[in-house]
Amino acid sequence: MECWWLLLAAVLAAAKAQNNRNDGPRFLSRGHSFRTVVGDTLLLPCQVQNLGSLVLLWRRGPAVLTAASLMVTRDERFRLVDGYNLQITDVGPQDAGDYVCQISDRVARDQVHTVEVLVPPSVRASPESRHATARRGGATVLECRAAGNPVPSVTWHKLNDSSTRLGEGPQLQLSRLERHHSGVYACTVDNGVGPPVVTEFQLQVLYPPEITVERSWVHTGEGFRAELLCTVLADPPAEVSWYQNSFPLSASERVTMSARGNNHTLLIANVQPEDFGNYSCVADNSLGRARQHVEVSGRPGPARFTSPPLARSNTVYTLAFAVDSYPPLDELRLLYRQLAMNETFQQPGRWHDVVLPPPESRGALTHRVAHELRGLQPAAVYEAIVQAKNRYGWNEVSDIFQFHTLGGPHSAHADELTPMFSAAPKIQLTSLTCVLAIYAVVSRLHSQPAFQI
Ligand SMILES: *[C@@H]1O[C@H](CO)[C@@H](O)[C@H](O)[C@H]1NC(C)=O
Ligand SMILES: *[C@@H]1O[C@H](CO)[C@@H](O)[C@H](O)[C@H]1NC(C)=O
Ligand SMILES: *[C@@H]1O[C@H](CO)[C@@H](O)[C@H](O)[C@H]1NC(C)=O
Ligand SMILES: *[C@@H]1O[C@H](CO)[C@@H](O)[C@H](O)[C@H]1NC(C)=O
Repeated sequence: MECWWLLLAAVLAAAKAQNNRNDGPRFLSRGHSFRTVVGDTLLLPCQVQNLGSLVLLWRRGPAVLTAASLMVTRDERFRLVDGYNLQITDVGPQDAGDYVCQISDRVARDQVHTVEVLVPPSVRASPESRHATARRGGATVLECRAAGNPVPSVTWHKLNDSSTRLGEGPQLQLSRLERHHSGVYACTVDNGVGPPVVTEFQLQVLYPPEITVERSWVHTGEGFRAELLCTVLADPPAEVSWYQNSFPLSASERVTMSARGNNHTLLIANVQPEDFGNYSCVADNSLGRARQHVEVSGRPGPARFTSPPLARSNTVYTLAFAVDSYPPLDELRLLYRQLAMNETFQQPGRWHDVVLPPPESRGALTHRVAHELRGLQPAAVYEAIVQAKNRYGWNEVSDIFQFHTLGGPHSAHADELTPMFSAAPKIQLTSLTCVLAIYAVVSRLHSQPAFQI
């Protein structure tokens, strides 16, 4: 009895299996989108149940890649693995697209995979040499043509220039070029696939020479030395030559010329009287010429004020200054005046001309002088200039120096309210013409080499 039931179960199971087979083929895998990077290996799944005697095709567009287990494509990068899974090695940009796994049963059942191939950025640079030259005032274009998937961004910046990006896009246009535009420029091409690509360009801006002199006036003395320095900027590099009073100089026992980087130095050892005069350095390149003058003189250097600008008292100020001179100083004079007498009377006061005793010479180059000015107005602003003379003559007047006294109408004590000028016995007012001459010189201070009275 029991055997009968068993037999029935076996028959039913067989019938069910037969039934399943008759269901026809069925995909076990699903269609997918794949993102892959160039060079990688990609596996496109295609798993089918109940294929029976049907044939499975891989297609890409109209092209058949495989039929059953047969490779139709000649591309050796394609392979079937573990049945009908399609493997593509060394994926390239050309492999992007739709891949169809198809069953040849006229019902046209397809499984579609979409493949996107990510391509890291690449760059075509122009100029190819990565070196651009342009004249000052001119223009140039640097170019980074980028390729990749997704489309890369291109950004520009200048190296060692902390300032932010110069621009975006394939072209960097530089115009009205100046000397400081020379340098290294870089484009950065990035699309998030792989590392960004940085391409560097060298930009050279050509310009005629530019000369700066450290000191246009060099103090020296007989038996001492004189060093003249011209700093020359030029591209292409300049030829530099030296002149004394417009005669070309050549090296000699006492005269040497040297260059270190942009610095061109003329050194005169053991200065003789004929060495004093007007020198110039001249720089030439293919784009032009520049010239700068340096005077070599035995006269004292201009006075440099060393006292603080604020007096420590209402009416007294100690003016201190230093003068460089190899020979002893013979004469010193000081001019000072009050600025803006009071709120209603904005004119400056009269110049006070003080002849100072020359400081004792101890053979030092720098002579230091301190002189007390008394009888000043409280809470007032003064200006002063100083001139010095040695055996070669008067120096140039100093720059104008300003100082102010302490106090004000409310804080002034009676004993400090001495009338202005009356308590300054050292003051010797020179003639009106002299004061006018000095005033004229002061107003042209920097264009005049010296004034003498
Ligand atoms: C510029 O920067 C680079 C790297 O940022 C550095 O290697 C180089 O020395 C710098 N050059 C100058 C002149 O500062
Ligand atoms: C050139 O001279 C300047 C000013 O004296 C100095 O600061 C600089 O270091 C010098 N450069 C060279 C290369 O000697
Ligand atoms: C030096 O000579 C030039 C012309 O040759 C002139 O322009 C300049 O003022 C002179 N400088 C001095 C200090 O004499
Ligand atoms: C301002 O100064 C001028 C010139 O010293 C003098 O004549 C005038 O009285 C002064 N005015 C005041 C308000 O102190």
